[in-house]
Amino acid sequence: MPDALRRRQKQMYRCPENTFEPTFVWDLGSPAPPLGTCEAQFWLGPLDVPVLALPSLAELLPDDERDRAGRFHFAADRHRYIVSHAMLRLILGAYLEQSPRLIRFSTNAFGKPFVEAVTNSGQIEFSLSHSGDMAAIGIVRGHPVGVDVELVRNEVNIEELAPTIFTAGELASLRTFEGAAREEAFFNGWTRKEAYIKARGAGLSYPLQEFDVSIDSSRTFQVKDQHAQGTTYTGWATRTTHRAMVYPAAMIVLGEGMLVRHFSWRKP
Ligand SMILES: CC(C)(COP(=O)(O)OP(=O)(O)OC[C@H]1O[C@@H](n2cnc3c(N)ncnc32)[C@H](O)[C@@H]1OP(=O)(O)O)[C@@H](O)C(=O)NCCC(=O)NCCS
Repeated sequence: MPDALRRRQKQMYRCPENTFEPTFVWDLGSPAPPLGTCEAQFWLGPLDVPVLALPSLAELLPDDERDRAGRFHFAADRHRYIVSHAMLRLILGAYLEQSPRLIRFSTNAFGKPFVEAVTNSGQIEFSLSHSGDMAAIGIVRGHPVGVDVELVRNEVNIEELAPTIFTAGELASLRTFEGAAREEAFFNGWTRKEAYIKARGAGLSYPLQEFDVSIDSSRTFQVKDQHAQGTTYTGWATRTTHRAMVYPAAMIVLGEGMLVRHFSWRKP
């Protein structure tokens, strides 16, 4: 959507300051929760659904996605792909008033997927992420959005990895944490940076060292992007636990003043 149109929409609707509402659960099949112009939906849901549910979820995927699912070597990866893509299509289908299987995506030069044809529901933008047994989905009208979820793996070598991802400022901030808090801050930074580059849509070609994210465990975080003339954004962060595994997650919308609603889906 052109910037001028976005600005006009914003003036017309007077979006509130960034606010946050707690988790709602959506029973698949019941009417979808409303999605206003100033709202951003932050979905988190487990991917390890019962095997018996998989065939009906696979039916929601078009042939190319089913083919892609079929190419995974490990069944667990295949299942996670099917469930995450089926969930994405179910959610989008509700807002686009379209059959999940018929929604068509195109991608930009870096692989970021977009809804191809827009019906009467306005420009829906989305972002998908999956890690371990968890998926995160961001849904917004009319603004680029990025989400990331990561399974906290203890074998990650923070000392080695952090300098390849973080700016000098982020590294200095990381050094103020110790032990478990340091690991938490590292994954906060990782998910927030990843969510931001996914919102930007340029993949890892977007310079990780040219924007800073706050890494403390607050509900909201700040991004300051020197690469984009010092523009600042506010994002939302959360952590969830599933089968004793911890999953930090982040979402960012390239716009301001959003009511963020958290959702999870109920297993079919
Ligand atoms: C592809 C990339 C966008 C995300 O990859 P990832 O973290 O491995 O995977 P996620 O599960 O979070 O996201 C994958 C989804 O992002 C979407 N995606 C793909 N390319 C994208 C892009 N350029 N921009 C935004 N979203 C993209 C797709 O929906 C994809 O889902 P699918 O593979 O099931 O079709 C890219 O940023 C990448 O390769 N990252 C590598 C991870 C890394 O090293 N991060 C450094 C820490 S910041």
